[in-house]
Amino acid sequence: MCGIVGIVSAKNVSEKLLNGLANLEYRGYDSVGMCFVNGNKLNIKKGIGKLDEVHKRVNFLKLNGNIGMGHCRWSTHGGVTEKNAHPHVDCKNKISVVHNGIIENYSELKEMLIGKGHNFYSQTDTEVIAHLIEDCLKGNKIENAVRNALKKVEGSYALGILFADSPDKLIAARNESPLVIGIGNGENFIASDVPSILSHTKKMIYLDDREIAVLTKDSFKILNLDGNEKKKKIHTIKWSAEAAQKSGYKHFMLKEIYEQPRAIADTLNGRISNSHVIFEKELGLSDDFLKGIKRIVILACGTSWHAGLIGEFMLEELAKIPTEVEYASEFRYRHALLGKEALAVAISQSGETADTIAALKEAKKYGVKTLAICNVMGSSITRISDGVAYTRAGPEIGVASTKAFTTQLAVLYLLTIMLAKLRETLNESQIKDMIAGIRKIPLQLQSVLDEDNEILKCAELYYNKQNSLYLGRGINFPIALEGALKLKEVSYIHAEGYPAAEMKHGPIALIDKNMPVLFIAPHDVFTYKKVLGNIEEVKARGGIIIAVATHGDKEVPKKANHTIFIPKTLYTLSSILAVVPLQLLAYYIADKLGRDIDKPRNLAKSVVVE
Ligand code: AGP
Repeated sequence: MCGIVGIVSAKNVSEKLLNGLANLEYRGYDSVGMCFVNGNKLNIKKGIGKLDEVHKRVNFLKLNGNIGMGHCRWSTHGGVTEKNAHPHVDCKNKISVVHNGIIENYSELKEMLIGKGHNFYSQTDTEVIAHLIEDCLKGNKIENAVRNALKKVEGSYALGILFADSPDKLIAARNESPLVIGIGNGENFIASDVPSILSHTKKMIYLDDREIAVLTKDSFKILNLDGNEKKKKIHTIKWSAEAAQKSGYKHFMLKEIYEQPRAIADTLNGRISNSHVIFEKELGLSDDFLKGIKRIVILACGTSWHAGLIGEFMLEELAKIPTEVEYASEFRYRHALLGKEALAVAISQSGETADTIAALKEAKKYGVKTLAICNVMGSSITRISDGVAYTRAGPEIGVASTKAFTTQLAVLYLLTIMLAKLRETLNESQIKDMIAGIRKIPLQLQSVLDEDNEILKCAELYYNKQNSLYLGRGINFPIALEGALKLKEVSYIHAEGYPAAEMKHGPIALIDKNMPVLFIAPHDVFTYKKVLGNIEEVKARGGIIIAVATHGDKEVPKKANHTIFIPKTLYTLSSILAVVPLQLLAYYIADKLGRDIDKPRNLAKSVVVE
């Protein structure tokens, strides 16, 4: 995934462009570059490394002018070298391109262009686009050259394009990779996401696949690849710009962990009354269809996949709907036996994860209805789904997903209640109890955040450990997976999540005095006693036991080295509370280790490539 920002204005745009790139760095930070157009010339500066490192070397503010664009790279094709850094240009140095995505047929295009005498200098797929546009230009209008070039391109792209001989026009194009157009006063913007330009304008247009935008400082035009003008809705963003800033926290991840009570309250807002869930209208799926669903297939990756596992538990236990959770990256290459009675649910924070988009498109081939549970309005997944349920967590900038995860669980819980009511698998009083339960969650979650001393202590004691095991059962087995992923992602410590009972089938061999073992052990009628037994097994082998338990529990503290308490709640809601100590533990350990927590090595916030 890469970040793109571009501006065409009545005034100098250097500072705004640098600021926009800084806000986009979470999308990729192998290399960074900028291009301005001055006096029918392209002025480009670029380098490998993070923005502040490259800026110190090349001083981007030496570039100035009223039209420019920038790019921060997470490499897909071609190593991390200065030559491969964006922007890329054509043979005559008259066309400059920045790109996010993958050109699937770039090799054939490159071969064809070389055959026509074009000279390439990089190993990237992106450079092909600059030469292809050059090849199509030949006296054409620039937007026609772009359209004709893109008709030959297969694959995903979000593009910014500048022409030295058209210093008043900034062109953008998208197919499968996100790109928004910002409409300002005397200036217009392109960007990979809303927060990066939100401090300059709240008016946004979401480009759709195979559309291009032609911007000047006071006008914009949206065309499809056939050249027909498209009328697009101008969205007004409700977020404040500072919402996407850190608000005083050391890292976005910590801010977003602490935003969870408010995020969940926002997720619930307007969707529940005392006796039922008001959700149907928003979903865009008819009651008859929802009543008749015979099977649910959940498609997701990473943390969103963990949310899907919890959703499976809720939907099967409470709405009695057979549910399966598929890794999107696996499902997209499987011949799934889906029929029209199934509902495919894509869970994605960004709405741009390539594997999840592809899996959703694969499911649609079987004619199934699709529902997106997503955090980003207007993102690709929301636009190819029949129904959408937004998580309303607000912008999640930290690469490690936290508030998006717990709000996904809240949405899945609401969906379960709604389906259970429609299908009469729960009675009125059970539904009232479930609604009362989730109403308490924001305050209960706040209480977990307020009691983080024991978590801090564990981070102090164990931040130097090289491995750890996370164990849980039932609805909290996915929380073991999620807790382990959080630790891996931000601290680079190896951690594995396992069903607690599975430990005996191998992982128990790992237990020794250097192995912290995290147990998710809330008090429930289902598996609590079994988990106590597993804790004993680890204790007998000298493992370090850190347990998440329910306030008032007397048994777990007797056996564990450390006990982190969470409030008592319904079994199906315990995951939302149990994950928070594990998020904080991962954060505090990573902070002790001095990791780049919001931009961990090798990771990107949204994986828009396979
Ligand atoms: C979560 O902490 C990770 N950053 C990653 O696993 C993420 O959940 C995954 O890439 C899916 O992203 P999405 O929810 O935006 O589709």
